[in-house]
Amino acid sequence: RIAYVNGTYQPHNNATVHIEDRGFQFADGVYEVWSVFDGKLADFEGHLSRLARSLTELRIPIPMTAQALGQVLKETIRRNRVRNGIVYLQVTRGTAPRDHAFPQDTPPSVVVTAKSLDLRKGEALAAKGAAGVTHPDIRWGRCDIKTVGLLPNALAKQAARERGAYEAILFDEMGMVTEGSSTNAWIVDENGRLRTRDTQANILRGITRAAILKLVEAEGIELDERAFSVEEAKRAREVFVTAASSFVMPIVSLDGTRIGDGKPGPIATRLREVYLEQAR
Ligand code: PDD
Repeated sequence: RIAYVNGTYQPHNNATVHIEDRGFQFADGVYEVWSVFDGKLADFEGHLSRLARSLTELRIPIPMTAQALGQVLKETIRRNRVRNGIVYLQVTRGTAPRDHAFPQDTPPSVVVTAKSLDLRKGEALAAKGAAGVTHPDIRWGRCDIKTVGLLPNALAKQAARERGAYEAILFDEMGMVTEGSSTNAWIVDENGRLRTRDTQANILRGITRAAILKLVEAEGIELDERAFSVEEAKRAREVFVTAASSFVMPIVSLDGTRIGDGKPGPIATRLREVYLEQAR
């Protein structure tokens, strides 16, 4: 495998950044994940504009033009012969002697990796439906910025794995669902209404979420962009999560409670189908 690191392509095994990189010391950096689907980057522009926003919010300089970045992503995909999989981009504030305050005139560090994923595995899981568990949301107040400060997310995902679940669904102090540890969360509630939390809340503005919202409108599905509780999720007809890494993944049990009839529901199934159709 080959990785892009600060202007050069290196063997993945010994590709490195400096020990005083601010990503390493302070989680002072941002990232994006694109899915590669049949050789194509899904939602290319959407992820790019969120990257620009994350960098701007943290006052990290934009390291290269969108066009140059597109070239690097495509070249990394090509060199790794990825037809289906993901490409990961990380930009940190760069390498400087350790000091909490920002360094002056330090170029950002840029890393890109790509890996193949077996599409059939994802399809098999989506056909069966995945398990979810709930977990308190203990993250900071700027979850709209896609930073590499993912320790609370990692703790939640690990708790899910230890209970044999695919995703941790996070909830705030009011018992309302915020999002998944690496996904946005949706339900089809008892009344058959599709719901997902509004982006005024402290959550990531998922690019897959935005793409699905457009499809929801095109399909004429009724939508209520409003918070729902863990209890409502457990009583819901359908629960599903969305992300670049999993598209639309039906959740058929939550903390061991069966959702609906315990099978992927018609809305999640349809949205996955049309999302993949338009991404192709
Ligand atoms: N995660 N919420 C969180 C906390 C996320 O980390 C992600 C993405 C999403 C979904 O966003 P999008 O649809 O833009 O992928 C929501 C990526 C895939 C990751 O951390 O690997």
